[in-house]
Amino acid sequence: MTVDTLTLRLSANIAHLREHQSSCNWSLRELFAADPNRAQNFCLKAPGIVLDFSKNLIRQDTLVQLLEYAREARISEKIDALFSGANVNSTEHRPALHSALRFKGVPQTAHEQAVAECRSCMQKFVEQIHNGNWRGFSGKCIRHIVNIGIGGSDLGPRMVVAALRPWLHQSVNVHFVSNLDGSDLTDTLEHLPPESTLFIVASKSFSTLETRQNAISARQWMRNAGCSKDQLARHFVAVSSNPTAAQDFGIAAENIFPMWDWVGGRYSLWSAIGLPIALACGFDTYQALLTGAEAMDKHFAKTPLQQNMPICLALMHFWYRQCWGAGSFAVLPYAQRLAQFPAWLQQLDMESLGKSVDTAGQHLSYPSGSVVWGGAGTNGQHSFYQLLHQGTDIIPVDFIAIKQASSPLDEQHKWLLASCLSQSRVLLQGRTLAEARRELERSGHTHKEVHNLAPHKVIPGNRPSNTLIVEKVDAYHLGALLALYEHKVFAFSCLLNINPFDQWSVELGKLCAEQIYNAADGGIPTDWDSSTAQLIQLLFKQ
Ligand code: F6P
Repeated sequence: MTVDTLTLRLSANIAHLREHQSSCNWSLRELFAADPNRAQNFCLKAPGIVLDFSKNLIRQDTLVQLLEYAREARISEKIDALFSGANVNSTEHRPALHSALRFKGVPQTAHEQAVAECRSCMQKFVEQIHNGNWRGFSGKCIRHIVNIGIGGSDLGPRMVVAALRPWLHQSVNVHFVSNLDGSDLTDTLEHLPPESTLFIVASKSFSTLETRQNAISARQWMRNAGCSKDQLARHFVAVSSNPTAAQDFGIAAENIFPMWDWVGGRYSLWSAIGLPIALACGFDTYQALLTGAEAMDKHFAKTPLQQNMPICLALMHFWYRQCWGAGSFAVLPYAQRLAQFPAWLQQLDMESLGKSVDTAGQHLSYPSGSVVWGGAGTNGQHSFYQLLHQGTDIIPVDFIAIKQASSPLDEQHKWLLASCLSQSRVLLQGRTLAEARRELERSGHTHKEVHNLAPHKVIPGNRPSNTLIVEKVDAYHLGALLALYEHKVFAFSCLLNINPFDQWSVELGKLCAEQIYNAADGGIPTDWDSSTAQLIQLLFKQ
């Protein structure tokens, strides 16, 4: 095994960062009191987004050390490698060129040429559906699109379509089915008319169990409704980098939109995997999404490290992960239309950073990715925020505030923003024992009551958060936001010196499911663990 000396150096640098952390004997309250310009000093701008990272447990010298660490990790070199199409996915010997999917103008490279051709096919298809020229088996227009896909072939388009609701095209309804649980498909199809329904089978590999089974059941549903084998071409299209498997399934060659091995599943919404977005919201809206992402690509590729927003977000997260024992990280968009954003981010972050070895295969001596979770504010305030404020763990938070209201209810929007800011302020300030006592005394509690109650009312504070301000939830800003987090995750992988573009454990799970499926009908191998054997017995054989 090759020894990657970079990992060894990084490990030593993390030890230095930890030493620095152990000397952090100040509080956020003190830092804000000492520097009236702190908010302005820790604030960055990127296309359509402002980041206030002043509520982090850092001083200028911390930032200097973190930036030095990023330089040691050769981050600029790695960003160049990403954009230039080098094989940054070292275990699969591939580039990760999702940024090439968002190019504008005249294609310059073979990748861009392929993307331009695919985009033009997508556009024609969207027009045919919208103007009613694409007809189902009985001659009726298509009114319902069902996207069958999972992971990256589902989460991105699903989240974007929900976010861009005001742009929904009147002529079609787009639905998403992902789960192997058949009720996902049957519940979706329950009220849909087969003759005006079209399925997109979205699978880069075209071998994913969930997608294959749902597609088989969907095909049967269509056949049961009187659609002949030859007419299926009017009701099934595919997006895949495996056209042979898609054709073997029965999708007509001309109905297959290409994907390429240089597009990772969790980075694929910018490819034809985004077809449901274009169908739901129109091609111009889809293009605006790409434009926003492209603007963020330029920011990431060209902005110096200290003003680079994805790098800053990665460094903050890295700081808590390596030096403060933070094992989880929450993202809290104050926007109902972004309620599915955390689920999309979860796959992006956890599938990319959930690794235990460096790029050379050496075991990491420091922690890698953490748990990413979250939900829309203000709903979370009435469920899990209690743990953020008074639990024993430090959980860094990204708040996402949207400046312009997404509804005509301006008064509610003002309250929404006030709620968002209130949470980051309470995380920062907390409430000391003395303050708790004072408040109780002022409200007329007895001495004994004050004594008993005050400790429960203490809120530790000094808990870190970022606040991102996004101008509004439209395609351009959403594109920029998604690309921001894609690049943050890549930057984080550079800090760890790992490959963020593979996901080998998923393959093992798939293989194991097949073995168990076979064991359910046949014999259970005697060398299997007794728990799995017992569960097979209980579930399938009694
Ligand atoms: O979850 C693993 C994964 O490989 C993801 O990376 C991918 O987005 C998903 O499965 C779906 O894969 P496919 O598009 O090949 O069906």
